[in-house]
Amino acid sequence: MMIYMILAEDLQCLKAIALLGGCRGSVWVSSQTLGRSLDISPQTASRRLISLERQTLISRAIRPDGQYITVTNLGEAELKREYAEYMRIFNGDRKRFVLTGNVISGLGEGRYYMSVPGYRQQFQDKLGFAPFPGTLNLRLNPQSIETRKRLDTIEWIDIQGFNAENRTFGDARCLPCRIAGHPCAIVLPTRSHYPEDIVEIIAETGLRDALGLQDGDSVEVEIGYD
Ligand SMILES: Cc1cc2nc3c(=O)[nH]c(=O)nc-3n(C[C@H](O)[C@H](O)[C@H](O)COP(=O)(O)O)c2cc1C
Repeated sequence: MMIYMILAEDLQCLKAIALLGGCRGSVWVSSQTLGRSLDISPQTASRRLISLERQTLISRAIRPDGQYITVTNLGEAELKREYAEYMRIFNGDRKRFVLTGNVISGLGEGRYYMSVPGYRQQFQDKLGFAPFPGTLNLRLNPQSIETRKRLDTIEWIDIQGFNAENRTFGDARCLPCRIAGHPCAIVLPTRSHYPEDIVEIIAETGLRDALGLQDGDSVEVEIGYD
């Protein structure tokens, strides 16, 4: 594995560009203004930009009116790594994750599976609530897809598969969470065909009605434990 260390002064410069909006698209940056915001000379600011570009942490386009800079995916990853370290400093060992996604409609199959007694009983016993027969589907935003991957490192509750109605029902896993204060759980059926950017949520109440949600609405899912 390659160990890659960005210099503290380069990181500071990268952050200044990101604060100008460089993670969202290209921003006009001059060595003078950048130097002023970092309390360094324009020459030093210019050297830092060259250094960031060489490390492919930014990309630059020189135009007649000046230079336009974009933070690359690698640059953004570097800033996120720093951010994760601050999270660890200020959150201690308490793990807290927030997923953001938009409500989408499924085919209604979740409703069927959540009505099957063999699943309902297990959810009730293991989550402490009788789940509403239905699932709320969320399409995660790109940043939350990364957060969702990190959830694989924490402990989920197992739901056992079983035989009923002359067929087999597969295993599933669930993870307690909250949406607008409502106790919920992310449910992950082993046989689900959904891609990684879609999560299914169950709750005691129908969340669409309880929260007045419609397709496209943005929802925050909080996962946290001590
Ligand atoms: C608790 C639970 C168990 C499931 N078990 C199975 C299963 O055994 N086999 C299967 O093909 N899909 C299973 N599914 C997944 C559904 O086929 C489907 O991915 C999902 O629930 C889609 O719901 P939607 O159409 O409402 O979006 C299960 C879903 C849930 C919520």
